[in-house]
Amino acid sequence: MKSLASSKKYRIMLVAGARPNFMKIAPVLNELKKYPALFDPVFVHTGQHYDDRMSRVFLEELALPLPDVDLGVGSGTHAVQTSRVMTAFEKTVLKRKPELVLVVGDVNSTLACALVAAKLHIPVAHVEAGLRSNDRSMPEEINRILTDQISDILFTTCRDGDMNLKKEGIPPDKIHLVGNTMIQSLLQVQPGLEKRSIHRDLNVTKKEYILVTLHRPSNVDHEATFRSILGALRHLQTRATILFPAHPRTQKQIHAFGFGSQVENNGRFRILDALGYMDFLALQKYAGLVLTDSGGVQEETTFFGVPCLTLRENTERPVTITQGTNILVGTDPAAIIRESERVLDGRMKKGSIPRYWDDRVAGRMADVLIRFFS
Ligand code: UD1
Repeated sequence: MKSLASSKKYRIMLVAGARPNFMKIAPVLNELKKYPALFDPVFVHTGQHYDDRMSRVFLEELALPLPDVDLGVGSGTHAVQTSRVMTAFEKTVLKRKPELVLVVGDVNSTLACALVAAKLHIPVAHVEAGLRSNDRSMPEEINRILTDQISDILFTTCRDGDMNLKKEGIPPDKIHLVGNTMIQSLLQVQPGLEKRSIHRDLNVTKKEYILVTLHRPSNVDHEATFRSILGALRHLQTRATILFPAHPRTQKQIHAFGFGSQVENNGRFRILDALGYMDFLALQKYAGLVLTDSGGVQEETTFFGVPCLTLRENTERPVTITQGTNILVGTDPAAIIRESERVLDGRMKKGSIPRYWDDRVAGRMADVLIRFFS
């Protein structure tokens, strides 16, 4: 066990708000708990995601404890959601007086809590710092850039993250390449994936289906774009079953645009409710092909070595392309069909797993935090 010179215990507030945050904080929370004499971790859930399928199931499957603090902010416009998190989080911070606030990823809760802490002169650690799509029309890109600028410890998942931060003037001694905590969570649950009954429940054969996730505003909030992606999927259903677990935003838009008839659940094209963590990972691991606009899914497919086509014009995770199995195809239906058929015909890209995407990521972070406080 490592120790600090003083006998002081450091209170670290770990913030999660939306679905992709839980797998990023779980290993860190578990690691800090190994040092009860050094760290007093406090788990804060902002409540940005509140549906059981977007939140509770992830806590359970990652064996996370119930949050110590639940801000319960819910949905709203960006300004409403961000300001609600800030107002509620400031009260919590003033009451609990943490020595450090740790935020993860790029959601509105990430920026809101980092901003509150920075203004109260409390050091901020950002997990998954330095990722850049260079597309400021994405709300997440704004959250990434601003959070990194006001963070004191920047934990990165890959070398290009380090380079982006240095280009933006972040002092190198604040940057720590530790790896990918989301992959550490995946490794923790991986042994249980074989036992999931999801393939049987959905009556699909491993490797013979295409798994789809879409929720980016740029894809699902624009009627014409969304319609043409669905057109490409309808074409592909002649080659393989399409499984499309849909985020609440996506379901709302399917309804709002009246696309129900285009995605009728005919057995070959199935819209499902958002799935739990382990069922979704099990479906990813054994997919013939994954089509997505999610950031995390690009990384998980690279880890599993499963072919992934990203339906976006850019990615903040270029390592999944240079090293992994990911290909950026955009939203042109002809390109989606052409690249999908290449994979279905057996001409897929091979990849490898980036350095430090392993089960010691949170341990490296704890070492950095111990050095920071000593
Ligand atoms: C958020 C993140 C995004 C992340 C995604 C993962 C921001 C800016 N975006 O997008 O980076 O990839 O989460 O899921 O923070 N809704 C529900 N139930 C829920 C949560 C949301 O019905 O549990 C609905 C909301 O009412 C809203 C829509 O989904 O209409 C969008 O939710 P919101 O939290 O604004 O952002 P996401 O699209 O989920």
